[in-house]
Amino acid sequence: MSDDHKPTAENTAPELHGILAEYDTPDQLVSAAEKVRKAGFEKWDTYSPFPVHGIDAAMGIKMTILPWFTLAAGLTGLATAIVMQWWMNAYDYPWLVSGKPIWSIPANVPIMFELTVLFSAITTLVGMLMLNNLPHPSHPLDHVKRFARVTDDKFFLLVQAADGKFDEADTRALIDSTHPVAVEDVLEDRVTPDTMPKALVYALVVVTAAAVVPLALAVKARHSKTDKPRVHLIQDMDSQPKYKAQRENTIFADGRADREALPGTVPVGHLNEDDHLFRGRAGDTWAATFPAQVELTDETMERGKQRYGIFCAPCHGQGGNGDGMVHLRADALGGSWVPPTNINQDYLRNMSVGELFNSITNGVRNMPAYGPQIAPEDRWAIILYVRALQRSHQGSINDVPESERGSLK
Ligand code: HEC
Repeated sequence: MSDDHKPTAENTAPELHGILAEYDTPDQLVSAAEKVRKAGFEKWDTYSPFPVHGIDAAMGIKMTILPWFTLAAGLTGLATAIVMQWWMNAYDYPWLVSGKPIWSIPANVPIMFELTVLFSAITTLVGMLMLNNLPHPSHPLDHVKRFARVTDDKFFLLVQAADGKFDEADTRALIDSTHPVAVEDVLEDRVTPDTMPKALVYALVVVTAAAVVPLALAVKARHSKTDKPRVHLIQDMDSQPKYKAQRENTIFADGRADREALPGTVPVGHLNEDDHLFRGRAGDTWAATFPAQVELTDETMERGKQRYGIFCAPCHGQGGNGDGMVHLRADALGGSWVPPTNINQDYLRNMSVGELFNSITNGVRNMPAYGPQIAPEDRWAIILYVRALQRSHQGSINDVPESERGSLK
């Protein structure tokens, strides 16, 4: 108990906090509230076990301004997400991913959504607490026994003595005119301090201070160097001595940690003996025909068209003219980029299928190898489709059946 609460000469009996009226039904409470509002009171409130329809209007409660806080916070979150991502990905550290634009809205939507929701949610919660003057550790009503039934089946109205309109006799008369089932004087609470418990305040200060620590550690890590491995709680087999890919290994004369397959060994399923099917070779030269395993059917053509669309069109374009999206994008960004070859050129029309197969399998000059990604049969199917593309660029009126020619004009 602090000094303020010690009884003094003038302050022996606790003064009146307000007058509490009890009702049996929500309707009585609503009509009582209307009367009190019309009488011009401001410091008063109603209490009920459940939300009562019409009580806001009866009490003259205006719509809360909380939604505006939420809107402002949401827009701030949105703006933060946009600026943050633009600054990180398009300005401070531009990072080109697969020729996609450095800055594009769709890629940034998830964070924009998240920060909008995060900022609005936190603001709504904190704003609600602040607008309601919470937390509020004690209240004079806590000591009124009958008030406990407010969580069960009773309805209450409290007019505070602190209200400018409050006059003990008049107010009592007004309350009586609302036909309460009981009226009780509520005295000021002199026992329970109405401030936050000190321990809680200290705990909040400590938690707030502790929350800065991870941030401080991150800042420190950005400006310092260490040779020690970072803290690693679950070790698994991560920190055992071992050779990592692409590192040096002094045990072997060539110093490589990644060992090549021993000469003459073949991984299971990789025998690939057929030179024609797997390497496009016919003896000492490039094969001029498709291997026997690849049937030259509409089905193979369809498969080739589909695979071409997936693996080749992004660079070479749907028609093979070298105008795929990756190329257009790389071109727009400038810099040095070897354009994909137009595969409808004569030298490629005249190139044997075996050599084309080799180009796709192992790559050619600046074009990477697609052998590791595309099965050999599919590579042949792609070549069949490439042949069809090349043929289509050489078409003349003679390729169109006589009966159809008229429709072309
Ligand atoms: C990442 C972009 C890219 C993709 C995907 C790509 N290519 Fe290429 N391709 C190139 C570039 C670039 C060149 C030119 C290389 C050079 O001249 O250095 C090229 C060249 C070629 C050539 C000409 C070879 C020669 O001998 O001149 C052929 C044929 C070809 N590509 C076929 C394909 C086929 C078929 C596919 C699909 C399996 C494919 N490319 C997928 C970029 C690509």
